[in-house]
Amino acid sequence: MKASAKANANIALIKYWGKKDKTLNIPFNSSLSVTLDKLFTITSVEFNKDLSNDIFVINDSIQSDSEHSKLSLFLDLVRNRAGINFKAKVISENNFPTASGLASSSSGFAALALAATKAAGLNLSPKELSILARKGSGSASRSVYGGFVMWEKGEAGVDESSFATQLFDENYWPEFKVVVVILQNEKKDTSSRDGMNNTVATSPFYNVWLATIDEDLKNLRNALKNKRFSALGETAELNCLKMHATMLTAKPSLVYWNSQTVELMKLISKWRAENLEVYFTIDAGPQVKILCLDKDLIRLQKKLSELKFIQNIIVCSAGSGAKLI
Ligand code: PMV
Repeated sequence: MKASAKANANIALIKYWGKKDKTLNIPFNSSLSVTLDKLFTITSVEFNKDLSNDIFVINDSIQSDSEHSKLSLFLDLVRNRAGINFKAKVISENNFPTASGLASSSSGFAALALAATKAAGLNLSPKELSILARKGSGSASRSVYGGFVMWEKGEAGVDESSFATQLFDENYWPEFKVVVVILQNEKKDTSSRDGMNNTVATSPFYNVWLATIDEDLKNLRNALKNKRFSALGETAELNCLKMHATMLTAKPSLVYWNSQTVELMKLISKWRAENLEVYFTIDAGPQVKILCLDKDLIRLQKKLSELKFIQNIIVCSAGSGAKLI
């Protein structure tokens, strides 16, 4: 009753921000992401009749109580489905900083869903896995697949209505790169879960966000289909700024950026004016992900190498979906 799985993190080009069903983790809006080849989680799960509690060792440390209950509830979904009641030992490693706006929950819950179901003797289809992973963390529904992935919003109260599908696989656009710029490694103060719930409840801009999502999705999908990088970058950057505008106008205001995030955002538009075609996207944390094509990568890396405040740079291509290892 043991299995191990590897899942890559994904970065949303059209963001998920807000749940219309908090119990089932069903979002208000559909989202679209790219799975990244260089940021991943490896998780092993063993169900064992001799254990009296679930044990979670994440990045070599035993998990805190709050994290522990969330993970145990997720394992309960697997136990119920498999008809077992054994506790589990879960060992999970990220090859990048956890809970700092680098989508660790996306790879984390996708790897956990796959390893836990396999260890429990279940063989879920990718769609079933996506539905299960969604209940751990919304973005994890997308990390089940590689390449460019769409997560359908579905309907509140209808578990099977909201899942991800692959639009294009990881080999579709080899020139497309995501340069992950790490500015700060500390854990964030506000989880994306709390941040989005409070934004939905208090931001006067939240309805504006929802009203423009379909247009953004249509533009992004068209750009992707025709490999039109400028249209893709412009749409992704605008969508990211709109998501952050809802957070900035929440009560209390939620600002995941730090001063270096803003400095880099400004530099990116300056570089663009100098014909370096780069766009940014930012999630629930200070890190900046820069979208570019292969042809501009060396010039971009040179510019980034001159910025002393950057801690680390990871150049990613589209990566594969979750798999057993
Ligand atoms: O999956 P969660 O609950 O960690 O939320 C992810 C939220 C964003 O990363 C900000 C956007 C997204 O679509 O991934």
